[in-house]
Amino acid sequence: MSLKFVRYIAWASVVAVTCFVGTASVLWYQKQPQSQAAAVASIGGDFSLVTTDGVAVNEATYLGKPRAMFFGFTHCPEVCPTTLYEASNWMKALGDDAEKLSFLFVSVDPERDNPEVLKEYMSAFEGGIVGLTGDPGDVSAMVKAYRVYVRKVELEDGDYTVDHTAAVYLMDKNGDFVGSINFNEDQDSAVKKLRNLVGAS
Ligand code: NI
Repeated sequence: MSLKFVRYIAWASVVAVTCFVGTASVLWYQKQPQSQAAAVASIGGDFSLVTTDGVAVNEATYLGKPRAMFFGFTHCPEVCPTTLYEASNWMKALGDDAEKLSFLFVSVDPERDNPEVLKEYMSAFEGGIVGLTGDPGDVSAMVKAYRVYVRKVELEDGDYTVDHTAAVYLMDKNGDFVGSINFNEDQDSAVKKLRNLVGAS
């Protein structure tokens, strides 16, 4: 087993939380020295999704600007609505600098989250957060490239929920992974990270 693979497993297990547990932590990543940060820098890459207006987008659409990305689903009971609400506040706190950043919410439940459903859901949040979904195969490919933990969990009533990574990914303008914001991270810390990301500190 290669060291890189071990680090990937460590990364994946630390960022994986369920919507019900709701206590994400990516402190493992943040406490690592630079060399290990480089090991997780391969997170990311091209993707093929659609906006809530049905417009096709890919990585190139967003290159040139730094990007914050959160992966979740509209039926999520707690982590997603909480994070999107907080993210709205972070974007408002950034003021004019918010325009230097793309904030994307990527559905990991494309079977239920079609563009129309996602559009309605996103209308509850401010801050210019962009909802993206797509063909299940395309979403699955992106989840893999971005090393997002996603697991469908069947419920007793025949419905299902989705466990997923609860951290917000921070990517620089070249599409390289540079850090993350934890679930429930305090606003000052989150906004500071976003300001650093846009180079406005
Ligand atoms: Ni969620």
